[in-house]
Amino acid sequence: MNLSFRSLFFIMVCFLIGINISLANSSGPQEWSPTWGLPPGKRPENIVNLPVTVPGDVKMSQFFSPISCGACHPEIFKMWSGSTHANAWRNPFFQALYKLGKRTAVGESEKQNVASCVRCHFPIGHSAGEVNLLPDDEKGGVVCDFCHSVRAATGIGNAPYILSPGNAAAMEGGTKYGPFDDSPETIHKNQYSELHTRSEFCGGCHDVSHAGNDLPIEQTYTEWRQGPYNTGDPETSIHCQDCHMRQRPGFPSTGSTDRPDNPGFAAPEIMGGKKRPHIWTHYFVGASVSSLSLPPGSEVQPQLAVERLKNAATLEIVVDQTPKSGDLFRFQVQVKNTGAGHYLPTGLTEMRQMWLDVSVTDADGKTIYRSGNVDEKGTIDPNATIYHTVFGNEKGEPTIHVWSATHVISDNRIPPKGKKEERFVCLIPNTTKSPLTIHVVLRYRSAPQDVIDMLLGEKSQKLPIIDMAEVSSEVNL
Ligand code: HEC
Ligand code: HEC
Ligand code: HEC
Ligand code: HEC
Ligand code: HEC
Repeated sequence: MNLSFRSLFFIMVCFLIGINISLANSSGPQEWSPTWGLPPGKRPENIVNLPVTVPGDVKMSQFFSPISCGACHPEIFKMWSGSTHANAWRNPFFQALYKLGKRTAVGESEKQNVASCVRCHFPIGHSAGEVNLLPDDEKGGVVCDFCHSVRAATGIGNAPYILSPGNAAAMEGGTKYGPFDDSPETIHKNQYSELHTRSEFCGGCHDVSHAGNDLPIEQTYTEWRQGPYNTGDPETSIHCQDCHMRQRPGFPSTGSTDRPDNPGFAAPEIMGGKKRPHIWTHYFVGASVSSLSLPPGSEVQPQLAVERLKNAATLEIVVDQTPKSGDLFRFQVQVKNTGAGHYLPTGLTEMRQMWLDVSVTDADGKTIYRSGNVDEKGTIDPNATIYHTVFGNEKGEPTIHVWSATHVISDNRIPPKGKKEERFVCLIPNTTKSPLTIHVVLRYRSAPQDVIDMLLGEKSQKLPIIDMAEVSSEVNL
């Protein structure tokens, strides 16, 4: 509360004294639009007021391929290789939507937005101004040498990074920016970066607004920033890294579980690595389980994603009435976001689907009421209680084409540590046999099946549905 008030105040002061924050941070025609500038003193020391790296400032050949980093960081390489970050450019779901955007975007604003996709899905190519890369290229996606060549950032959102890579073509390692301040120099120099230890680093990409009209599209960092896991004190705040870079098999590391240290080595001892009390894991697990989102050979991540989803929310059934045959029966379901540091769901919320599957059956197992079932085609009951976002275009119609989005039609999601109460009502036929069983399941899918079928045609696949939480209650008539 206090923090967002401060930043509002800061923005107001800037307007009063005639500084436009986005102009102060812009760098000519390639400007980006930040969601947060962050006031000095309340930001990592390497968030600075300098121009962002713009296309052409660096060359693709300066960056090392991930496998060359893997020579000395084999475990980190293995974890990262199975992550959605490794797949961010190859990802067939992304590629299909991106191509559709390139084909159908009309007008300056829509085209600007489609041109911006590469900023985050192929950040090295964007910085180098070389974006016509085959999806399978090893430098596509969010690679090691992008994240660890970030010297500084200028704010939050739409990839506001300042890069300082070495030169792979000349075998110069350059400086790698990371969490340690005492790493020995090896093939590369090392430098402590406060930015890398905080949510602001991830917020560079995990806060997306429309490049043409500034409509907030993905707001994961903003949701975290305004939520309870950001205490305002860097010592007690629970950052993205605390949940997403502590997870490993056996430790889901969510808001409702422990998030223990992971002692070990960042590089083998013979290479110069030191024993450390904690090594940040690089699985980067969210909620993706399918082979569209995850790279080929991703073995650990699908299981870790299921564990994460199963430790994200709780369900409770509340009945405060004794039901009677022939009467209306009312009950409530409470859904609590106990595990996510942001809204549930977050990210690409116009695609993500989280919904309640609710049924009431009688003693013979006969279904009296059902909401939220999925048919053979994979379509969810249109009357289901569903948590997601719907964008609208200029004509006011709902759209999943982010580039043509101009406003938010609806946003039904659950804030961090927040809850929603849903009411249900059904008629109990006279013939019903006591007791009734209410059964509720909270389910998750990365995208609507018909959207995937439409985008991928023959290459489409049935997206898995994950049961996040489940509860039953018996009620006597
Ligand atoms: C020849 C071996 C070698 C190669 C190749 C190598 N590293 Fe390192 N790296 C090390 C060693 C050794 C350390 C120190 C580990 C420690 O301090 O415990 C290190 C440390 C780091 C750190 C921590 C820096 C800090 O100050 O926090 C990062 C980040 C890093 N490397 C990234 C990379 C990336 C990205 C690549 C590929 C471009 C790469 N490394 C390639 C050996 C290597
Ligand atoms: C999305 C950005 C991102 C990518 C991609 C990434 N890292 Fe990291 N890495 C980080 C961050 C952030 C930290 C520090 C987290 C903290 O301090 O809270 C880190 C920490 C490290 C460290 C220090 C040891 C540790 O894990 O604590 C090394 C070494 C390292 N990364 C190497 C690599 C290598 C090698 C790759 C590719 C195989 C890679 N990283 C890919 C963001 C990234
Ligand atoms: C250069 C931009 C960039 C940076 C920096 C970045 N990410 Fe990502 N991240 C992405 C993109 C793009 C995707 C989606 C990739 C895909 O699904 O194809 C993604 C996906 C993810 C996912 C997986 C979501 C899922 O659906 O499973 C998690 C978790 C995640 N990032 C966490 C982080 C964390 C934590 C940090 C900071 C340490 C970070 N990211 C930094 C761009 C970035
Ligand atoms: C308190 C723990 C916690 C913190 C802090 C946290 N997350 Fe998450 N995150 C989760 C959980 C649990 C999930 C799985 C449920 C879901 O999909 O939201 C998740 C899911 C995600 C996803 C996938 C969402 C989807 O449905 O596609 C992304 C992306 C992500 N987190 C990024 C971030 C970023 C970026 C930050 C920091 C700004 C962050 N997270 C902070 C716990 C956390
Ligand atoms: C500022 C950074 C940024 C920009 C720009 C961006 N994205 Fe993303 N994108 C992300 C992040 C972060 C995620 C992961 C969120 C999540 O998992 O829910 C993501 C996830 C996705 C996914 C989901 C992939 C999957 O497997 O579930 C698709 C599809 C996608 N983006 C398409 C696009 C398209 C098309 C554009 C351009 C019109 C675009 N993105 C622009 C950051 C960005």
